[in-house]
Amino acid sequence: MRKPIIAGNWKMHKVLSEAKGFIEEVKGLVPSQEKVDAVVCAPALFLESLVQQTQGTDVKIGAQNMHFEDQGAFTGEVSPVALKDLGVSYSIIGHSERRELFAETDESVNKKTLSAFQHGLVPIVCCGETLEQREGGQTNEFVGSQVQKALTGLTEEQVKQTVIAYEPIWAIGTGKTASAQDANEVCAHIRQTVAAQFSENAANAVRIQYGGSVKPSNIKEFLSQPDIDGALVGGASLEASSYLQLLEAVAND
Ligand code: PGA
Repeated sequence: MRKPIIAGNWKMHKVLSEAKGFIEEVKGLVPSQEKVDAVVCAPALFLESLVQQTQGTDVKIGAQNMHFEDQGAFTGEVSPVALKDLGVSYSIIGHSERRELFAETDESVNKKTLSAFQHGLVPIVCCGETLEQREGGQTNEFVGSQVQKALTGLTEEQVKQTVIAYEPIWAIGTGKTASAQDANEVCAHIRQTVAAQFSENAANAVRIQYGGSVKPSNIKEFLSQPDIDGALVGGASLEASSYLQLLEAVAND
């Protein structure tokens, strides 16, 4: 049985006082981590403060990006060593906004995924097709190849701990979602890709999230699919009440 994982991706939203206010509201109310893993991926500036604020609670804190090198002359970048030192648990890697706007490549996604494990961070590895690729019937091939490249060089044990987020680019922040069946089909294909590259065991253990306009009113539909184990949520994770509703919908299922 794979435990569901709901991760909020705040992107470049909030100032510190708002971030702390959010955690204050949710921290006593999130369902037990025996039922669901609750993660908040916050801007790097707030991570130290939020890690401290969530100590002893069932909320885990994630970064939205990291560099693959431990340290060095990389102006403006965030070191995975520094993230781990702060007590950060997860890092999103290869979000489509980073791929599109900040020149993230399959190669750097792979290096970051390997580096995350080296430093004891759980990677949330993102993949997903454009509308053009979907309409051209290339979704499975494209997403499968993104996943295969991202996971190259991991051990089977590491793959089992990896979180993969399938996020069709055309569904992110648009209010449009893939149908739950279509999303599941791609997630099943991702699982087959992992089985072929590693093993059935690894494929059965890896958790696959759907992302793209997930909200409290549609999350159950996605989570009821056999190959969808959670959600990566942007817009609907910004308000404490909506974030809690997402978690409750999953925990009470
Ligand atoms: P959205 O974003 O929920 O606002 O569509 C999802 C994401 O980009 O992770």
